[in-house]
Formats: sequence, structure tokens, C-alpha cells
Amino acid sequence: MKKPIVVSIVNHKGGVGKTTSVINLSAVIADSPKLRKIKKKVLVIDFDHQANATLVLYRKCDGESSIYHKLLEYSGITITHDSQEYPMDVLVKPSTIENVDIFPANSLVSTAEYELLNATSRETILKRIINHNQDFLSQYAYILIDCPPSLGVLTTNAIIASDYLLIPLDASLFSMEGVSILDKTILRLQKLFDIHTSIAGMFFVRYQPLESVHKEAKELMRREKGDLLLEQSIRKNTEIEKATYHKQPVITYSPTSLGSRNYQALGREFLKRTFKK
Ligand SMILES: Nc1ncnc2c1ncn2[C@@H]1O[C@H](COP(=O)(O)OP(=O)(O)OP(=O)(O)O)[C@@H](O)[C@H]1O
Ligand SMILES: [Mg+2]
Repeated sequence: MKKPIVVSIVNHKGGVGKTTSVINLSAVIADSPKLRKIKKKVLVIDFDHQANATLVLYRKCDGESSIYHKLLEYSGITITHDSQEYPMDVLVKPSTIENVDIFPANSLVSTAEYELLNATSRETILKRIINHNQDFLSQYAYILIDCPPSLGVLTTNAIIASDYLLIPLDASLFSMEGVSILDKTILRLQKLFDIHTSIAGMFFVRYQPLESVHKEAKELMRREKGDLLLEQSIRKNTEIEKATYHKQPVITYSPTSLGSRNYQALGREFLKRTFKK
């Protein structure tokens, strides 16, 4: 039984394109010849209490079961439900995208940030959830985790559970300092938890090649990070926003748009780096 490849889309800055990239990359990866050949799907885990990925890929589910319930079950904290109540195949839902499932979030996830602070081994809860549910998860080739805009306990859990990290960078709000905070956090977690999580790549979102600050940001990143900066950037493209508004990935909403072509190329580059037969 092959384990799914776990990837966190992470950046503590808000609004840099994490959720948009999770939605669109999940669709591109699930539709790729590589995954179709092995007949495996993609699972999106929504780890953000804003639950934007859940809203687009499924529906608002406040008052319903969510990733919060699994986190509490594995936290060792006295819980108000027993594990039988929330098996994986009940919690995980089919999404609006073919061959993509979603482990939804809701507003309760915000309380997990502080409830988990007193849990034993609080940083490795998601890793344990994934390890203990290998049978169920073997239907997926990739698990993509949509992280919240912070470096709190949930993002720490996501990083520790991941094989790879993908880091979207907003070209218009780019700061090298932001990247180095993230770098230091990853290094610290690698040492503390003896994990092998590595950065699969960083990529610019809302990129405009004619804006000199965008070009400079890209050149600086190329000099500083070399190959870690992916070739493909995601250009600023309103079709991407419209697709999200219509609860679709851009590859189906507007297949020939620039946004669609960009995400398809990014998906290919990402698969080349991470997919193992
Ligand atoms: N390439 C793009 N072109 C135009 N708009 C984009 C593009 N990528 C993302 N956006 C828009 O930018 C906004 C922020 O994107 P998104 O919600 O994906 O960021 P985020 O990092 O997940 O935010 P948060 O940190 O709050 O979770 C959204 O309105 C989205 O539609
Ligand atoms: Mg988001």
C-alpha cells in the first residue's frame, strides 16, 4: 500500500493565494495523466477556520462535523464524542471537482488553535491522524493542506505532517523578510522533530511581468533561492477570481484562460518534482 504524498501550501502572510492555489492545483493534479493512470485521487485538507476551500469545494458546514473533530479525537484531551461517531469516510466529503475529496473545516477550527495548546504532543496530531488512517487514505496519491495565515499550532501540525511544502508568494506584497521567517520556522521544526519535510518550491502569484517591482522580486528570489523558485508564476488573472466565485477551478471554468494555462504548467512542474512511481 503506497502512502499519499502530503503537501502543505503554506505562508503565514494573509491573502497570498494559498487557498486559490490549493483549489486549482488539486484540480490540475487530479486530472493529470499520472494520477489517472494509477487511478488515485487528491484529498484537500482545509486547516483554516475561515474555511474558504471548504466553501468553494463543498459548502459552508458550520454546526457539522469537520477536521476539528478528528484533531480533538487525536489530541488526548477529554472529548465530548467517541471516535466511532466520526469515522474518516463520514468526515471526508466528495468535492465539486472530479477525483478531489475534501476534509472540511468550519469556524470551530479557530478554537482548536488554543484548545490544542494543552494537548500532549500537540504538534504531531495531524501526522498521527494520517499514519493511523493509511487504509482509508490509500485511495489518494496526494493530500494538499490549505494552511491558515499564521505560524500557530495548526500550521506547525501541517508542516510536520508534510513531505513537501509549496510556498505561494504575492508578487505585489513580496518581502524577503517574510520568506526568511518561514525558512527559519521550517529549519527549527526540522531540527526539533527530526522531520524530512522539504520545500518543493516557491512560486509567485498575481504576477505582472510589466511591473518593475514584480520583476525585481522575482530576480531577487532567483538569486537567493535558485531552483527553489519554480519557473512558473501565476499571473494576475480575473478568470481565476471568477472561477473561485463560481465554485470551480479555473481549468474547468475558463479552460483556455491565462490562469488555467498557468496552473496547468505549475501542476506539471510540481508533479515532476514530487511524483514517484
Ligand atoms: N492569480 C490571481 N489573479 C487574481 N486574483 C487572485 C489570484 N490569485 C488569488 N487571487 C485572489 O486573491 C485573493 C486572496 O487569495 P487567497 O484567498 O487564495 O489567499 P490566501 O493566502 O488563501 O488567504 P488567507 O491567508 O486569508 O487564507 C482572493 O480574492 C483570490 O481570488
Ligand atoms: Mg486561504
